[in-house]
Amino acid sequence: MGQQLFFLPVCESTNSEAQQLLLKNKATEGCVVLTDEQTRGRGQRGNFWEAAPGKNITLSVILSPVFLAVRHQFYLNMAVSLAVLDLLREQGLEQAQVKWPNDLYFEDKKLGGILIENTVNSLSIQHSIVGIGLNINQLHFGIDTATSVAAVVGTQLDLKRLVARLMEMMEKRYLELRSGKLGKLRHEYLQVLYRYQEAHAFSVGNERVTGRIVGVDEDGRLAVEINGELRYFAFKEIAYII
Ligand code: BTN
Repeated sequence: MGQQLFFLPVCESTNSEAQQLLLKNKATEGCVVLTDEQTRGRGQRGNFWEAAPGKNITLSVILSPVFLAVRHQFYLNMAVSLAVLDLLREQGLEQAQVKWPNDLYFEDKKLGGILIENTVNSLSIQHSIVGIGLNINQLHFGIDTATSVAAVVGTQLDLKRLVARLMEMMEKRYLELRSGKLGKLRHEYLQVLYRYQEAHAFSVGNERVTGRIVGVDEDGRLAVEINGELRYFAFKEIAYII
């Protein structure tokens, strides 16, 4: 991954740039769009993604997981989350976790996020644009629920080296996905899932509930035990209260 690399000093969104490359047939599998600064970075749930220019990892990888059934698309989220966690662990953030579905967390603070946009036909995924925003050297945030690798380890890191390493981690996890190691990926994902098997507060619609995450199903829905009842939630139907 990363053999084909487009570096844009500034752009609106690397996911949007990657989409354009795909439309123009200019991208091969594993192509990376990297930037120092996004002016309209997109996050999950229609949020904006903001990051200080030149300090963080902001990129999109174009993949063609045509081997992955549409109903298995959440396994790509798991594989990518695990690749980012592999990188974080290597930097000494042993306690880093994934907050479902794919936010990267360290001790109740957000380190980064993943936005995957898939093009599917009736049977399989055609293209995936995997957008990753990871706070690396930024030390000041407008909110106190965000953090960075540098804030945790106390030193500034070499961004280029980290991007290269992340591509290696992505490649390894993507190969696991391609070779059908779905059970392994799901097992490892659950091991690093934030608040897994703990009583925790969630908002479900307008309600505040206490529940215990007991798993993630094939469709990526969160399985939560609430008052002795097992319930499954799709993205946007439930949110952690932190
Ligand atoms: C989230 O936590 O809400 C997901 C954030 C994803 C941000 C990344 S930064 C690179 C890529 N380009 C975008 O516009 N978004 C993703």
